[in-house]
Amino acid sequence: MSTTPRQQAVAIISGACGDIGRAIALELARRGVGMGLADILPADRTEALLNEVRALEVPVRYDQVDVSDAQAVQRWVGTVEGDIGGPNLVVAAAATVTLAGAMKVTEEQWKRELDVNLTGSFLTARAGAASMLAARREGRIVFVGSWAAHSPHTNLPAYSVSKAGVRMLCKCMALELASSGILVNEVAPGYVDAGLSAVVFRENPGAREQAAARVPVGRLMSAQDVARQVAYLCLDSSPHTTGSTLLMDGGLSLGQGPNAPGGPAT
Ligand SMILES: NC(=O)c1ccc[n+]([C@@H]2O[C@H](COP(=O)([O-])OP(=O)(O)OC[C@H]3O[C@@H](n4cnc5c(N)ncnc54)[C@H](O)[C@@H]3O)[C@@H](O)[C@H]2O)c1
Repeated sequence: MSTTPRQQAVAIISGACGDIGRAIALELARRGVGMGLADILPADRTEALLNEVRALEVPVRYDQVDVSDAQAVQRWVGTVEGDIGGPNLVVAAAATVTLAGAMKVTEEQWKRELDVNLTGSFLTARAGAASMLAARREGRIVFVGSWAAHSPHTNLPAYSVSKAGVRMLCKCMALELASSGILVNEVAPGYVDAGLSAVVFRENPGAREQAAARVPVGRLMSAQDVARQVAYLCLDSSPHTTGSTLLMDGGLSLGQGPNAPGGPAT
């Protein structure tokens, strides 16, 4: 699929009220993509975003959806199909995080995190893909993953496991859908100065500065940085790029173990 002219492409984006979801919506809208947005938050939280998207002259609608509810996701995609058009781009960005190690996290928290982050991503991607397959539309699916998928975080076991699951889901769906012209990829950000991390930074004085100091490129990234990479995978990447992880962690994964800042020199 090449970059499409105005309003030809239609995206469904979950987690659209979040910092990164919102940045993705605006980045795609600037490129002429119409969209159906969803989040678990009520519609009155989205007026400003909807107005910004409408000002870019692309069609947009918002639905309040819990992505862990298969029927709600199915209804959302059907409504977008009828109102905006059949989606050819899917961005699964909804997620939640619990800061609790494996010995502290409750079963309820563990289950909810996997339900939203992993099953919700699966349901969103599958419903979008089913719509494309039914209409023989080619398209692209992008999961918003995380470097936590491959780097153990002792304070985020449920989140890390959910993102590791998303990575394998991406590969499985990429293989299953490749012959139908549907490319499936993941962006894996490191520390973003927004959204889920911003909450942690706010609640833990000094955490933001400590995080920035650990990033080899020397700075945290913005939601806009992530949105640009999602748009690249949606609209500009090679037709051979599928099942891949676009790691954008500023070198965090390279600087672990003996190479961690302050670690031994050899
Ligand atoms: N902020 C970071 O440092 C960072 C780093 C790596 C990856 N990510 C990923 O980026 C994505 C966006 O996160 P963010 O940082 O913008 O956080 P955010 O909290 O601002 O956005 C997440 C959104 O998901 C929504 N959501 C939560 N549960 C939902 C549900 N059941 N159904 C529908 N929507 C639901 C929330 O309401 C929220 O608007 C997530 O997938 C996250 O894992 C974030």
